[in-house]
Amino acid sequence: MSLDSNNPLKTKSWLKLINHFKKIKDIHILEHFISDKSRGKKFSIKWKDFLLDFSKNNIDGETINLFQKLLNEINLKGSIEKYFSGEKINLTESRPVLHTALRADGMSKILVEGKNIMSEIAETRDKIKLFSHEVISGNYKGFKGDKIEAVVNIGIGGSELGPSMVVESLYHYKNHIKTYFISNVDGDHVQDIISDLLPEKTLFIIVSKTFTTTETLTNANTVREWFLKSAEEKDIPKHFVAVSSNVDEVINYGIDPDNIFPMWNWVGGRFSLWGSAGLSISLSIGYQNFSELLEGAREMDIHFKTSEYSENIPVILACISLWYNNFFNYHNHGIIAYSEYLKNFSKYLQQASMESNGKQTDRSGNFVNYETGQIIWGQTGSNAQHSFFQLLHQGTKIVPLDFIGFSKPLKGNNTHHNILMSNFFAQTKALMTGTFKIKVNDNHKFFNGNRPTNTILIEKLSPKNLGSLISLYEHKIFTLGLIWNIFSFDQFGVELGKKLAKDILSDINSGNYSGHDSSTESLLKEYIFGNK
Ligand code: F6P
Repeated sequence: MSLDSNNPLKTKSWLKLINHFKKIKDIHILEHFISDKSRGKKFSIKWKDFLLDFSKNNIDGETINLFQKLLNEINLKGSIEKYFSGEKINLTESRPVLHTALRADGMSKILVEGKNIMSEIAETRDKIKLFSHEVISGNYKGFKGDKIEAVVNIGIGGSELGPSMVVESLYHYKNHIKTYFISNVDGDHVQDIISDLLPEKTLFIIVSKTFTTTETLTNANTVREWFLKSAEEKDIPKHFVAVSSNVDEVINYGIDPDNIFPMWNWVGGRFSLWGSAGLSISLSIGYQNFSELLEGAREMDIHFKTSEYSENIPVILACISLWYNNFFNYHNHGIIAYSEYLKNFSKYLQQASMESNGKQTDRSGNFVNYETGQIIWGQTGSNAQHSFFQLLHQGTKIVPLDFIGFSKPLKGNNTHHNILMSNFFAQTKALMTGTFKIKVNDNHKFFNGNRPTNTILIEKLSPKNLGSLISLYEHKIFTLGLIWNIFSFDQFGVELGKKLAKDILSDINSGNYSGHDSSTESLLKEYIFGNK
């Protein structure tokens, strides 16, 4: 059974939220603090190493009550049950959505088409563990008998963004193996990476769920040709492995069947880092750290499944985003992490969130008449403060923000960390307070404040906490998609461009520029013939 279809605008709670919005919308956030001295604590959730403070938002107790009613009305609990138990909630592709199974504990029983998938997941975990151990320890040898010194992940979208973000975020835990990511079909970039590598000491992981993605196959072919300039066909199995659900295509491509790490069609690409697509993670930080990442995600899964809505971090964050997106009409959402290690976290969330919830058709097949999706972007703090924060403080647009920071630095430099974190706390305060009730004579120096933020303060950037953080956002995305009554786990919106690119490539190769609109024609003409 798939998810129910409920137009959120037709629920009783939505109407009540509209009336509540009218009452609350003009209240300055700081006024909530003036009228309730314990607000900071009241609107916070402490969970394991996480403290979520969501008090600096334009909400009150009634907002949370009404959202709880909305979630009951649309049966969030029942939908979570369907999500975790393997019901086909990705109805448009007729698939379950089971990235949570990839991190479930080995004793769980999760059935797909009547078969418990936990045994194949366990086998795959063992395969990743053994392979990682062999490569990292140096037992695994390349075609000339060398140890592997570099791993190159060739994949795009979910086959790159998650793994590369985790490898980069956990750089502190990294071993001696260099990890590279080739995603874009930009030949200059591929060439630059290749020039850093020695074929006899490099392992290539081709990651593609479908094994049909043009960018990935083109990059893989280029790398293979380069490899074969120094080696022979028989050396390929030692240096090329694949992560895919399309076993036939991988074998056709010439990869040894023993070198295939499986993906399954019940895991979406953008949620796949927890399984074989995370091979580059395990090779980069070791299997033990990889399994702690899974453990952290699993703990957040349990929190999401079992906590009351008012104590449930992903649920609260989803409701707050919905509040701004659909009632205040703030359509952007910024992610500001106060750690350079997390510099690609917002880039990862862009795909996870925008590919999931950028939809215009509801679960009954009708076009929606309300806003869905959020425009996600971000940068690390304090760099962002010296870049676009001007607009966030004094611009005409309001962008709700998540601030993510850590109580402890990883390398013990407290002087730096205190400066970094003083900025972290100062910014959310400044964004909320502005120059509220302070007389400012020069309008250029006036700050309205009243700019909403969530603060996620985490003990330290460990594999486990990172796993929980990613899982938190995955469940926020699920909850938002559920309320918006859309299907969050397909991505048909990427297909049209792919098809047109194929047609245009054959035009370019044959020197034809006609048959398009006049803009595309003249651009193609310029590209093909230049000044000739
Ligand atoms: O084009 C979008 C997309 O399908 C993503 O959803 C996916 O993560 C990416 O392409 C890569 O797909 P594949 O792993 O099949 O190469």
